[in-house]
Amino acid sequence: MRTQIAAANWKMNCTLQQAEDLLNKLSAVTDFNTSNKIAVIAVPAPYLLLAKQKLAHQANMFVAAQNCYIKNYGAYTGEISAEMLQSMGISYVLIGHSERREYFNENNAMLAEKINIALEYEVTPIFCCGESLAIREADNQNEFVAQQLKDALFHLSAAKIVKVVIAYEPIWAIGTGKTASSAQAQEMHQHIRKTLEIQYGSAVADVVSVLYGGSVKGNNAVEIFSQPDVDGGLVGGASLIAEEFVTIMNALK
Ligand code: PGA
Repeated sequence: MRTQIAAANWKMNCTLQQAEDLLNKLSAVTDFNTSNKIAVIAVPAPYLLLAKQKLAHQANMFVAAQNCYIKNYGAYTGEISAEMLQSMGISYVLIGHSERREYFNENNAMLAEKINIALEYEVTPIFCCGESLAIREADNQNEFVAQQLKDALFHLSAAKIVKVVIAYEPIWAIGTGKTASSAQAQEMHQHIRKTLEIQYGSAVADVVSVLYGGSVKGNNAVEIFSQPDVDGGLVGGASLIAEEFVTIMNALK
């Protein structure tokens, strides 16, 4: 069975004190240790080591960075390298979140490089894809998402792509309170798996975890996660409330 993942994306939220409070609550969770489920907490970069320390005893909880740069080291003020993440024991990184694409001009060619460097340093990329409202209204979402996968991921070998997690996040559902219906999510996730299968074969397509993101909450997670091709979620707003995120973790199948 594919790994089921509840991923939290804190984005640029929380003071140090708020981050500590949230991490203490996650650190106190005692009933989340089954073999195929994990939680991944993407915290702002200044809190990565704190999160690592607070969650060290949680066998099924991992810490993620929200971004990394395409270079290893050097004169790139403000950036974070995959090598730095590896050296800190950070095992996941979000790549290509729609906010990075929109506000920081990240395109698929650059994201392909980020994917490569993350894999080189054994930091698992959670690659985000998803269409805007205009693309959905024109009914072009399937072609658009397939193109994002091709441009950013399909240069990878089969041995490498199985190390990538994909997060489908329709932009019109992010932070809007408007969730894709579970049928819409399933339809796109099936399409993503089919696209992987055409490129790599079914053995590969069957093992890649594909998460849904966009207004996942405690009260809709069970319904969305129960879809056969949905392997968990990438959660923004609701991940800032510990109880709500724990409910979402417990909604994994
Ligand atoms: P949201 O954000 O859950 O607040 O919609 C999801 C995301 O951007 O990853």
